[in-house]
Amino acid sequence: MAGKRPASGAIAQQRTGEMSAIPLSRSEVFGELRKELHEDEEFRQSDAHIFIIMGASGDLAKKKIYPTLWWLFRDGLLPEQTHFVGFARSDLTVEAIKTACMPYLKVAESEVERLSVFFSRNSYVSGKYADEKAFANLHTHLLSLPGGGDANRLFYLALPPSVYHDVTSNIKHYCMSANRGWNRVIVEKPFGRDLQSSEELSTHLSSLFTEDQIYRIDHYLGKEMVQNLMVLRFGNRIFGPIWNRDSIACVVLTFKEPFGTQGRGGYFDDFGIIRDVMQNHLLQMLSLVAMEKPASTSSDDVRDEKVKVLKCISPVTMSDVVLGQYVGDPEGQGDAKLGYLDDPTVPKGSTQATFATAVLYVHNERWDGVPFILRCGKALNERKAEVRLQFTDVPGDIFGAQCRRNELVVRVQPNEAVYAKMMSKKPGVYFHPEETELDLTYKSRYKDVNLPDAYERLILDVFCGSQMHFVRSDELREAWRIFTPLLHQIETEKTPPIPYKYGSRGPVEADELSKRVGFRYEGTYKWVNPHKL
Ligand code: NDP
Ligand code: BG6
Repeated sequence: MAGKRPASGAIAQQRTGEMSAIPLSRSEVFGELRKELHEDEEFRQSDAHIFIIMGASGDLAKKKIYPTLWWLFRDGLLPEQTHFVGFARSDLTVEAIKTACMPYLKVAESEVERLSVFFSRNSYVSGKYADEKAFANLHTHLLSLPGGGDANRLFYLALPPSVYHDVTSNIKHYCMSANRGWNRVIVEKPFGRDLQSSEELSTHLSSLFTEDQIYRIDHYLGKEMVQNLMVLRFGNRIFGPIWNRDSIACVVLTFKEPFGTQGRGGYFDDFGIIRDVMQNHLLQMLSLVAMEKPASTSSDDVRDEKVKVLKCISPVTMSDVVLGQYVGDPEGQGDAKLGYLDDPTVPKGSTQATFATAVLYVHNERWDGVPFILRCGKALNERKAEVRLQFTDVPGDIFGAQCRRNELVVRVQPNEAVYAKMMSKKPGVYFHPEETELDLTYKSRYKDVNLPDAYERLILDVFCGSQMHFVRSDELREAWRIFTPLLHQIETEKTPPIPYKYGSRGPVEADELSKRVGFRYEGTYKWVNPHKL
């Protein structure tokens, strides 16, 4: 059985031995992981950990997984006896992996020695994903590492979904720690491409592993401000009573990227923006905004509430959706001149959407009638992810229609912030309201705090056995239930997306949809950045 500990962020770190070299700010952020692990009965029994990267030669491994493991190791946040094993088809060496990862590791001059120690804990085994002998060979290698058969094993599937089936079966039959050590399997999205394929994957995984051995990653759940949603909502009295249909006119959840598919068009074209971002990252944020207060902060209490709220959402219908596809801007710079269809990895004439706005409704007592507007797109005017609650108009206005709607914005990235747009008396000899804000900008309020990357938090959570920030199978089923009919309709009808210019805010039809369902944009709010004054 997996040991259950608080999520990595929930505990404060003790600085002992090797840890004394860690700058306090990072350790404060991560919490008392080392102490927790050493106090944990199960951890004492099985001291060694082996992190196995399946697909070690790939892009995700090189850009995200190895760098994350290195940062955690560098900062002394992993259990003392942790070893790393790469597995892939290519004939590779640890040295070659190091070279490939180097541009992403961000190694300071003073850390070069520590980096050598990290790579001395690495090894590599090559083999085919469907080859049982290769996995038996991998198991023999794992047994030869310190801790041998007693080591806890974490398997990270940094692989295309086409090989999940073989790899997970082979892990189960040949590579599990059979003695005292636990086994955990980390799965990356896409978790299928519709309800049926996702259910097939879930059935396959659950025939091999128990739910508490499966960690489905949605990296947005590892972001600081996404995790903060629960604290803001349930740790403050000022928001609770107004967090409902009586005071909130609409909720807008936004994901914007200022670049296109950048050569990833092959993968992207198969999935599209709804599967790539909306069905997972935006819907996860929605459930944290809309769910009821959980009985506790235990993983299952939180996920029970997320599932309950998703169950109250009907499948999205085409009339509540606007799809877009970017085209080149002839006046733009560099890549901006190129449209989606100019990407050589995108099939000619593709109707795949690179932008989508969809309106969802949560049919329960708290939210009935409140539109949740999900917007996401590539090649837009800026990089931004945020949650925006727009409040209703002030009833019985005495200021001659000068009051604008309040908004509470939780900006996930960049520049994490929470701000409340509000009316205040114009300072001086005036007596009329003007728009301003209460502003909690992290960079100024928490100057010395170094926020960890989402993957750092999540991988640490897997070591800790905390599943709060991972997707449970019933959550996934509900997410696919909401989007599958729409996705099938788009595919069968080849719904043409509306062209929008690279670098724009997306199709105007999306703003019109938001307006139609109740979002109000006045264009009067001007933010003066106090740090630039
Ligand atoms: P705005 O009033 O500019 O925008 C509010 C919302 O209206 C956004 O969702 C925006 O969408 C949308 N919108 C913009 N243009 C249109 C349009 N033509 N038609 C329909 N909808 C539109 O307020 P913001 O809250 O966005 O603040 C403005 C700026 O000030 C932002 O850059 C914000 O980050 C910054 N700010 C920063 C703070 C901080 O760092 N602490 C505090 C307060 C503000 P879209 O997202 O597509 O633009
Ligand atoms: C991934 C999507 O899940 O999230 C990418 O597949 C997207 O298309 C990425 O670019 C965005 O992540 P982040 O953390 O940079 O906002």
